[in-house]
Amino acid sequence: MSILDKPLTSQPVILSYVQVAPLLKAREQELATVQISPDLGLSMVEVRLTSEGVEFPNRERLDWQSVERISMSEVNCFLLQENTIRIVQVFYEYTNRVCSLMPTKGAPSMLIAGFVMHRIKDIDPMQDTLRKIAAIAPVVGRVLDTATGLGYTAIEAAKTADEVVTIELDPGAQEMARLNPWSHALFDTPNIHQIMGDAYEVVQTFEDSSFTRIIHDPPTFSLAGELYSGAFYQQLYRILKRGGRLYHYIGDPDSKASGGVTKGALKRLQEAGFARVVRRPEAYGVVAYK
Ligand SMILES: C[S@@+](CC[C@H](N)C(=O)[O-])C[C@H]1O[C@@H](n2cnc3c(N)ncnc32)[C@H](O)[C@@H]1O
Repeated sequence: MSILDKPLTSQPVILSYVQVAPLLKAREQELATVQISPDLGLSMVEVRLTSEGVEFPNRERLDWQSVERISMSEVNCFLLQENTIRIVQVFYEYTNRVCSLMPTKGAPSMLIAGFVMHRIKDIDPMQDTLRKIAAIAPVVGRVLDTATGLGYTAIEAAKTADEVVTIELDPGAQEMARLNPWSHALFDTPNIHQIMGDAYEVVQTFEDSSFTRIIHDPPTFSLAGELYSGAFYQQLYRILKRGGRLYHYIGDPDSKASGGVTKGALKRLQEAGFARVVRRPEAYGVVAYK
């Protein structure tokens, strides 16, 4: 995604420790104004500094105590509304999980029940996404994304595909995507269709050979074992067109846990009927060809 040069003034201000760092520096230098991003790095606006705090072009005010609180948190993003900050997170009793937006120096990730949803070590979530998509390029035709999350894979796939159908189980994850400036295209792009439900069940409703590409980016095996099962892989095989490709995220191939899961997944994918299944270590996953 590129840096926009126009401020998203109608959108709420969302900040992390990355965006408030220049504010603290500007205060030290006794500057009257400074440029910062009001949307986690997508655009820039000029803010006014006063002895009380910071004033944004949309008239929201952020006091210095709040700036310091934001600067001390490396795991949370903060929404500024009515001059008050709150952590961008949600808890649903239905799933019994907390979902929160987690900052990085680039696109944010999401924490679900303490698990980070994208790769963030030596790579950012957007580069992680591009590697997943590149593993099954060209991403054309009708694409299924089995696990929407923040929508990064769906958004990227929709740039070249005719249609992207994407499934999410957790309403908390969808709410984080709604608040995340980097996920806006998930809701604005006409060729992305979101389905709320359990991918395990939803895939059973699709017709045979109805997708050209499948992006399968599930939670870790210990949280969602059924999405790594032979029965699920058989469904993915059934709904994929001949000549189609499946990308399946599994995790760091060099780690003991993901290495073991990869071995089992390769075997079950072959048993499900895929003609060829190859490891794609750069994308922390495997690609299966029908
Ligand atoms: C690793 S994240 C996906 C990241 C996503 N590809 C992106 O680009 O942001 C996994 C997502 O799967 C969702 N999920 C978990 N179990 C699911 C299920 N059975 N069906 C559909 N989605 C599920 C989680 O709530 C989470 O949002």
